[in-house]
Amino acid sequence: MVAVSSGEIIGAASGTIVDSLEQAPDLPGPVGLIRLAAVRADSRRMGVAFQLARAVGGDCLRRGASSLAALAWVYGGSGACPLAGVLERLGFSRRERLRDFYAGVGIGACPQCGCDSCSCSADVYVALSLSEETGTPLLVEDGG
Ligand SMILES: CC(C)(COP(=O)(O)OP(=O)(O)OC[C@H]1O[C@@H](n2cnc3c(N)ncnc32)[C@H](O)[C@@H]1OP(=O)(O)O)[C@@H](O)C(=O)NCCC(=O)NCCS
Repeated sequence: MVAVSSGEIIGAASGTIVDSLEQAPDLPGPVGLIRLAAVRADSRRMGVAFQLARAVGGDCLRRGASSLAALAWVYGGSGACPLAGVLERLGFSRRERLRDFYAGVGIGACPQCGCDSCSCSADVYVALSLSEETGTPLLVEDGG
């Protein structure tokens, strides 16, 4: 999914639906997994990632996912996890940290940890709360 402003792509996010998630076997499957989100540097802190993550999660639910999870990049250098606030506002909670998750991914040095074999981690976020009416996970309704 992409975000477009004035005819230009300013952000993108992707998701997939998996039968189950190894890191959260208690999540009812199929699980909609938000894999990444990236927003152009000059368009950040305006809610674009929030809208993208909500749209990808919502799309997974419409396509049959029973629960949601997300992988959030944790920068090896600073330990920052810039997507954490977005996911928490959408109702996700952090489950566990996967060390060296991105090792062997990409070509050349990672822009955050600086390593050729990336030493950044990923945090697994899950959305477990279920709507009493629909039995589906809740995604907040507006950007707050
Ligand atoms: C992480 C990333 C996708 C976030 O994109 P974004 O569009 O800036 O995200 P949002 O605007 O939805 O939210 C980011 C912050 O801006 C704040 N914000 C949102 N709208 C705002 C506004 N109108 N005014 C001020 N701040 C605002 C949010 O509260 C949030 O704050 P928090 O991080 O303290 O919780 C972006 O920084 C990025 O592409 N980083 C590089 C790639 C990366 O690390 N991707 C994560 C991979 S999982």
